[in-house]
Amino acid sequence: MLTLKRARPAARALTSVLLAAATVTALSHSASAADSLASAAAGKGRYFGTAVAANHLGEAAYANTLDQEFGAVTPENEMKWDATESTRGAFTFTAADQIVSHAQSKGMKVRGHTLVWHSQLPSWVSGLAASDLRTAMNNHITQLMQHYKGKIYAWDVVNEAFQDGSSGARRSSPFQDKLGNGFIEEAFRTARSVDPDAKLCYNDYNTDGVNAKSNAVYAMVKDFKSRGVPIDCVGFQSHFNSASPVPSDYQANLQRFADLGVDVQITELDIEGSGAAQATSYGTVVKACLAVTRCTGMTVWGVTDKYSWRSSGTPLLFDSNYAKKPAYDAVLAALGGTGGGGGGGTGATCTVTFARTADWSDGYNGEVTVKAGSSPITGWSVPVAFASPQKVTALWNGSPSWDAGGTVATVRPTYNGSLAAGASTSFGFTVAKNGSSALPAVGACTAS
Ligand code: G3I
Repeated sequence: MLTLKRARPAARALTSVLLAAATVTALSHSASAADSLASAAAGKGRYFGTAVAANHLGEAAYANTLDQEFGAVTPENEMKWDATESTRGAFTFTAADQIVSHAQSKGMKVRGHTLVWHSQLPSWVSGLAASDLRTAMNNHITQLMQHYKGKIYAWDVVNEAFQDGSSGARRSSPFQDKLGNGFIEEAFRTARSVDPDAKLCYNDYNTDGVNAKSNAVYAMVKDFKSRGVPIDCVGFQSHFNSASPVPSDYQANLQRFADLGVDVQITELDIEGSGAAQATSYGTVVKACLAVTRCTGMTVWGVTDKYSWRSSGTPLLFDSNYAKKPAYDAVLAALGGTGGGGGGGTGATCTVTFARTADWSDGYNGEVTVKAGSSPITGWSVPVAFASPQKVTALWNGSPSWDAGGTVATVRPTYNGSLAAGASTSFGFTVAKNGSSALPAVGACTAS
């Protein structure tokens, strides 16, 4: 403790010199056109989106990663029936509105998820008799679509209505059991009448390859198209793991649906695993979408492994510290992104690690190590969010630019922007705790 306290004034003196130098030599980082997932996908005429949870939008590293990388959002739970109409006729849009306005302010598309689904369904709905249930279903669709009219790119009108396994049958649900097979058609007709500009999708899982379940969905879509039932798109959730890997006929399956005259979208992509194997599977999925002209976009089911619905399987593109994973590099490469011109095909990338290097009663020192990926880099930037009311009293070997609230620093190099492939540098800071011992949230590293 004594040693650390004695070291601080010296560190402060040094850091103020470095900070002054940093102010003069600060690099202005500018992202190249294709160094985010969204911009690379846009270059291929596709969107690249993510599921978003409203309660994480206040976390700087989460919001920064979302804003920097993604061009579309799907509310993960906030538009579901239990969230929007838990009591009959009383609609709540607060959390979903938060996501939609965030997306709109950043120019992102919004996928609406989901209007009619057997899960996350309030018990009052399951208890209704047929005619009342029909009224409630159509009213629910109408209220949600009216509220978001003009703001939604595509709605998952009906979700997961078919059984798993070899039967190809409809899943038992209050809608299926009381309204019969016609409930899906009715939901789509109601949806079209409310917002004719939104694309209307059927969305399901385990339909990613050719199998009994996808055959049953295929037959339904074919029937709808032949009878003029309004359907515009089919969503393939694409939740994969070792027991359920990316099917070898994934692209062929997307293509056969597209050939029916609907768009196809990858709607909830996540692939459990890590390293090269996970990266390869992600690359396969992205390439399949790009190879199908009517595959209009891809959505991963979450920003970071930290908040995934199956977090222990680490299925997403950013790890729980918001560092880009090999899967991220594979997706960016498959989308034709350059990562800012690092060369070598995979582009310039970097990752970060954080350590608290000293800790005392009213302060701490932190160190962020920036490591170049498999290509050399000439610049980097790292967002670091400090917990209010903490204050940074010194910062060295990096140049911070602060957000309006003074809690999030985007740190860029001073003298240490150029790193050979695999090489590291670090920057550090001293923080006055002001009563909070929380660690800062260190966001994803962006290389140029
Ligand atoms: O918000 C409450 C919290 O207050 C409470 O303390 C906690 C205790 O369990 O629960 C929290 O709610 C959970 C919610 O996620 C938010 O985290 C629910 O219990 C939990 O059931 C819910 O899980 C969601 C799941 O759908 C429900 O079926 C997942 O987040 C969501 O990722 C998942 O998404 C589905 C798609 O909608 C459809 N396709 C499959 C996909 C994965 O299951």
